[in-house]
Amino acid sequence: MQRRNFTTVSGHVSSSYAPQLESPVGAISKKSKLLAFSSMLSLLAALLVSINTGGQELETGGTLRSAAQAQRFLVGAAAELKPLETDPAYAQTLAREYNVLTAENAMKFEALRPTRSRFAFADADKILDFTTAHGMKLRGHTLVWHHQLPRWLVDGNFSSDEVSAILREHIETVIGHYRGRVYAWDVVNEAIDDQGGLRQTFWSNMLGSDYIAQAFTLARAADPQATLLYNDYGGEALGVKSEAIYGLLKSLKERGVPIDGIGLQSHFLLEQPPRMSEVAANIRRLAALGLEIQITELDVRMLMPPNETKLQDQAQIYRAYLDACLVVANCNTFVTWGFTDKYSWIPQFFPGNGAALPFDQAYRQKPAYHALLQALNNSHRR
Ligand code: XIL
Repeated sequence: MQRRNFTTVSGHVSSSYAPQLESPVGAISKKSKLLAFSSMLSLLAALLVSINTGGQELETGGTLRSAAQAQRFLVGAAAELKPLETDPAYAQTLAREYNVLTAENAMKFEALRPTRSRFAFADADKILDFTTAHGMKLRGHTLVWHHQLPRWLVDGNFSSDEVSAILREHIETVIGHYRGRVYAWDVVNEAIDDQGGLRQTFWSNMLGSDYIAQAFTLARAADPQATLLYNDYGGEALGVKSEAIYGLLKSLKERGVPIDGIGLQSHFLLEQPPRMSEVAANIRRLAALGLEIQITELDVRMLMPPNETKLQDQAQIYRAYLDACLVVANCNTFVTWGFTDKYSWIPQFFPGNGAALPFDQAYRQKPAYHALLQALNNSHRR
């Protein structure tokens, strides 16, 4: 039953196939005309088979990056500096397959701010240099979050006014440092709890619920060109959490708070995937608020070990999710949380789970990779 949902937003035969049906340029003999005609027929037959099966086995080759570029779409991955510097296959694959990166940890509060007065941009800057060298975009992650905060901050016994000043200097300094070079920021991360209430955190306890609006206002002033997003997990399909997130964003928009979009983290479970029909409906209603939608941290974890059936089912989820984004003009970015199972955060945070990404530990392309490439090649966005 669930699987039917994955395929409701099906792919189409790509118009990029059309050029292959054109006759070769220049004068050609009768024999070669015949040959051309018969190969045209077999191509047509292949196309018809594809149409009957929803076009899903079509894959015109290329890379995720080239396929996305042709759709004016961003496809990306979260990246870490260490493997970027030590594992050549890591850097090569990133540069070949993606046109946008997110720093998986290097731009978090704890990483950027070892002490109150010192900002440490060196590692994040190296990730920025890599994206610049390879003509990729860089997303900023994340300014206001309750995890990965430094001890000097949470144990500092600061007053509310002091915390407010620290947050202001953080947003101004970090966004200021990357102005014009980081095109989008996850300004506030995970502010809604799993019951749909305002999450009780260091920030909400110190500053009250208005810290969210304040953060966006400060971010806009620091870089008026950057796309500013609210980012969260578990609000992809319909339900109490996505309802609360929708309500929050709607009220921020109504109050004139400068927010441009929503990041759907999308940490999915193979055994319990979201209903894609609900995801599609949620994406549509968020787009109707005038928000940009970015898929920011997708992975689809499974109970280990993987097998062929699980990997195929996983590929269906990847495909259906990308399809659901591609059909909405406002959904313009699709980022996975890492790209190779070799460095995924999943085994450490969800013991017994893994194999969540489109490349395996040896950088081999998994069925999920081919599903993404097919979805991009079959899309009619452009
Ligand atoms: C995770 C990283 O992947 C880990 O390496 C780190 O130890 C903890 O954070 N939601 C987010 C991300 O917004 O920043 C988290 O990243 C995963 C969940």
